[in-house]
Amino acid sequence: MKILLAGGAGYIGSHTALELLEAGYEVVVADNFCNSSPESIRRVEALTGKTVAMYEADVKEKKILQKIFSEQEIQGVIHFAGLKAVGESMEKPVIYYRNNIDTTLSLLECMEEFGVKQFVFSSSATVYGEENPVPYVETMKRGACSNPYGWTKFMMEQILEDVARANPEMSVVLLRYFNPIGAHPSGRIGEDPEGIPNNLMPYISQVAVGRRDHLTVFGKDYPTKDGTCRRDYIHVADLARGHVKAIAYGASHKGVEIFNLGTGTPYSVVEIVEAFEKVNGVPVKHEFGPRRAGDLPESWADASKAEALLGWKTEKTLEDMCRDSWNWQRRNPNGYR
Ligand code: NAD
Ligand code: WQD
Repeated sequence: MKILLAGGAGYIGSHTALELLEAGYEVVVADNFCNSSPESIRRVEALTGKTVAMYEADVKEKKILQKIFSEQEIQGVIHFAGLKAVGESMEKPVIYYRNNIDTTLSLLECMEEFGVKQFVFSSSATVYGEENPVPYVETMKRGACSNPYGWTKFMMEQILEDVARANPEMSVVLLRYFNPIGAHPSGRIGEDPEGIPNNLMPYISQVAVGRRDHLTVFGKDYPTKDGTCRRDYIHVADLARGHVKAIAYGASHKGVEIFNLGTGTPYSVVEIVEAFEKVNGVPVKHEFGPRRAGDLPESWADASKAEALLGWKTEKTLEDMCRDSWNWQRRNPNGYR
């Protein structure tokens, strides 16, 4: 079965490409490399000994997509292609809405034209918004998002639900990721953010490797045990395996299904820093600063639905996540560059 990964050269896409190839799927990648490098897919090919059809393509552009769909017998699509920096989305909302929503619409139009009926979407825990209590369950209503990035995910979920309702032959799986960290244990592929990282783990790794002086822990007065925010960190390899399960599930189920992909166990910022230092034997200089606007005190998944319906649960530990993040950073201090 041949799967198109839109945005497949990125952090989660490249790990998913690897897992799909290892599970026997054929993989086609379409990416404009606006936040990635083709090197990630070359390394996936080297790690698996298999080839990937790779297109440099803006997924908003229907003409290029039509060429891909006519050259490749695509049977399912996983849509990773999106801009994802929360802060940037507040400064450049139009660019975020245009990119994230147009990529989705162009993919849906081409799928209809070429009779492709299976769609898996990279959604986010951010769609639970600020009102829902933790742990988040898929049956909860989507909540008001605190930034345009989150709203694009909220809107794309709605679009995909409407499309599946109108077309009973469609299968749509919405995967709500929690906080992906870690890297493939080989240290050959991993997360390679442009500029100053927004997310915690790449920031920690860059402090540890000497690229940044210190980590600022955003807030220590939250109503948690140690006063710092708690999140559901998930190893990217576990997350990638979740996509293989979602593709298998979608092949025999029509309609929309939503799955949380998380571990179900939250850790605080301080716990992450301490685990990283302990597992890797490296210091992470850190200081406490004010809260970051928009951060929720706690976010974690009820992950039982994915286990029940997909037969998927996480296998990696926090130690694995810290070790593999550091292994990738240490071997590739400047990412793919
Ligand atoms: P990433 O930036 O590494 O990957 C996204 C990929 O999409 C990149 O390779 C980028 O070049 C590509 N892309 C963006 N716009 C494109 C376009 N118009 N045409 C073609 N390619 C385009 O990010 P990631 O962490 O791998 O995230 C993948 C998806 O998962 C995104 O949709 C993101 O919003 C979602 N997600 C990520 C996280 C996270 O914390 N990493 C959490 C929840 C959801
Ligand atoms: C984690 C914790 C910070 C950096 C974001 C998006 C979300 C999803 C995942 C895409 C928080 C703290 C961070 C730093 C810190 N992405 N922190 N110092 O905010 O949970 O989620 O990425 O869908 O939509 O909002 O992840 O890694 O930014 O932060 O103290 O320099 O680390 O305050 O508590 P977040 P994160």
